[in-house]
Amino acid sequence: MMQEGRPLDFMRARLQTLQEAQLYRRLRPELGSSEPWLERDGRRLLNLSSNNYLGLADHPALKAAARQVLERWGCGMGSSRLIAGSSALHAELEARLARFKGSESALVFNSGYVANLGIITALVGPGDLILSDALNHASIIDGCRLSRATCKVYPHADSAAVARLLAEARRNGHSGKTLVVTDSLFSMDGDVAPLEELVDLCRQHGALLLVDEAHATGCLGPGGRGLLADLDEEVRAYEGLIAVGTLSKALGSFGAFVVGPALLTDYLINVARPFIFTTALPPPVVAASLAALTLLEEQPMLVERLQANAAYLRQGLQALGFNTLASSTHIVPVLVGEASQALEMAARLQEAGVLAVAIRPPTVPAGMARIRASVMAVHTRSDLDFALEAFERVGRELRLL
Ligand SMILES: Cc1ncc(COP(=O)(O)O)c(C=O)c1O
Repeated sequence: MMQEGRPLDFMRARLQTLQEAQLYRRLRPELGSSEPWLERDGRRLLNLSSNNYLGLADHPALKAAARQVLERWGCGMGSSRLIAGSSALHAELEARLARFKGSESALVFNSGYVANLGIITALVGPGDLILSDALNHASIIDGCRLSRATCKVYPHADSAAVARLLAEARRNGHSGKTLVVTDSLFSMDGDVAPLEELVDLCRQHGALLLVDEAHATGCLGPGGRGLLADLDEEVRAYEGLIAVGTLSKALGSFGAFVVGPALLTDYLINVARPFIFTTALPPPVVAASLAALTLLEEQPMLVERLQANAAYLRQGLQALGFNTLASSTHIVPVLVGEASQALEMAARLQEAGVLAVAIRPPTVPAGMARIRASVMAVHTRSDLDFALEAFERVGRELRLL
């Protein structure tokens, strides 16, 4: 039967439903910035909504590197890596990333989103099993769906549940591959995965373990090398351990990477469709990532400053009485509850001079809407005191305190 009405009515209906549930989203170019403070309409806003955690996105060293390469190589590569788009710069970035992460090999993808899609679909397929943390990022969820493997979602950070599911698969004679996948630092909760236990379990069961270090790279672990770098060498040596990181957040540039054995990157170059069928990253972006790695190696105090700022804001919010969930990092959620209330809080914070956006379903579970505050290494103590005063005032107005 033909559908009644106009062809785009389904869009009108869906958007209206989202509006009624306070879940409608719109782009706000007037607030787009990776700087610690934004100037808008003569007003200053403290930016607690950027993943530019180390403040590198507009660092003179990154800009100079990008500018220099722009003049020599131009704006775009004009073809995919496997055709004529794999420059010496791309190879240098991969060698540097492998060294930075202490891995045999690295492969660059065009974003964290496509890296997860490409890696998961290359690792598993129909007949295989994925165990995925309940709070994993959307790109992991989409990779799992696209793979057509059976996906079981385990309760957040619950390694006992992973152990049960692995044992159950063994009992049931599961003969395909098994992949356990997790964020290392969870992007909306600011807490961390039980990595050592997960490596242990995967080793016992011969399972693959994919760890997404998007928000930990440049921020956590020795010199910002990520949370896996905190584990003993012997634990990290597990062949089935695969790590992803992004260049788009703390490293202030764009793109993503996977690290692991050379066999893995060789395999992905040949099998991962989101790697194969897309144009290579532009040279200035690659040059900026290289400059960011150099800065991180030369200035580990950037990471220390980020962590000190994170502890100050997190403990300050907790002392005021806010629920910051299980955050132990530079990502600090302030739980509000309903989407409408979270929007109200974000609007009032903005009035008070703080940009800290409301995070609503489907990004977080229903009833768990929140303000997500992310700290930067370049925020000063007085910036953070300014934020704490604004949170206190708005929290009292909304009777959250
Ligand atoms: C855990 C995680 N993985 C991957 C991504 C996607 O990375 P990118 O922005 O480079 O596509 C994000 C983005 O927020 C993320 O939080």
